[in-house]
Amino acid sequence: MTTDVMTRPAVLILLGPPGAGKGTQARMLEESFGLVQLSTGDLLRAAVAAGTEAGKAAKSVMESGGLVSDEIVIAILRDRLAEPDCAKGVILDGFPRTAVQAEALDALLSETGQKINAAISLEVDDDAMVTRVAGRYTCAGCGEGYHDTFKQPQKAGTCDKCGSTEMKRRADDNAETVASRLAAYHEQTAPLITYYGDKGVLQKIDAMGQIDEVANGLAAIVKTAAP
Ligand code: AP5
Repeated sequence: MTTDVMTRPAVLILLGPPGAGKGTQARMLEESFGLVQLSTGDLLRAAVAAGTEAGKAAKSVMESGGLVSDEIVIAILRDRLAEPDCAKGVILDGFPRTAVQAEALDALLSETGQKINAAISLEVDDDAMVTRVAGRYTCAGCGEGYHDTFKQPQKAGTCDKCGSTEMKRRADDNAETVASRLAAYHEQTAPLITYYGDKGVLQKIDAMGQIDEVANGLAAIVKTAAP
């Protein structure tokens, strides 16, 4: 059974290379619009930490900067999309990343009569991405993201959101792995810009500005694409 077009939950996709700001912006959109951030990177890191079969298979691939198999990622995404909170609408952060994943998403959404409201490409320069990724850290308590230079907590070492003093850095945030992740993006994910352009849902945004400037531009797109 399909729902009426006016009541369908929004589906937004954020495309962009490592460090483009997908996670940062998805969290801000989640707060502003009441949508749910679905990060396949976060879901995979949780699977690795939990030691599931999928996590065991993904671990070494993620450490090398390559892409985890479509089969594993699609299964993880499918399960997460079926959870009740996703009825509020979702922001896909880091998915799809290959043509196979994009087609699988189309098939999943068609089962529920949903459509993609917008696929938004965060346009950035590769050179700046290494600096962004190398300086990134997150709160171990709530996952809020920070940066050594670009986004520091108000009180050094203390999360603005939850007050935790435990911060962590990702194992794959080193220059060598970032280079592999950038290469994977250009080879396998960037072609999706054309895929969504052909579907008429592509939007592009300059993501080289400050975090709040990019957020304002994205909010304007979301208000139009998912009113
Ligand atoms: P994933 O976790 O998705 O990582 P990624 O795509 O490489 O993206 P990042 O999280 O590094 O960057 P981001 O764009 O979210 O930037 P952020 O907002 O944090 O994937 C990790 C791995 O999992 C992959 O390599 C792959 O192995 C696997 N994987 C995941 N999904 C997969 C899939 N679908 N298929 C197959 N494999 C998959 O910002 C970065 C930093 O910059 C932060 O510190 C932030 O504060 C700062 N910042 C953000 N915006 C700005 C700005 N405008 N100005 C200055 N600083 C900024």
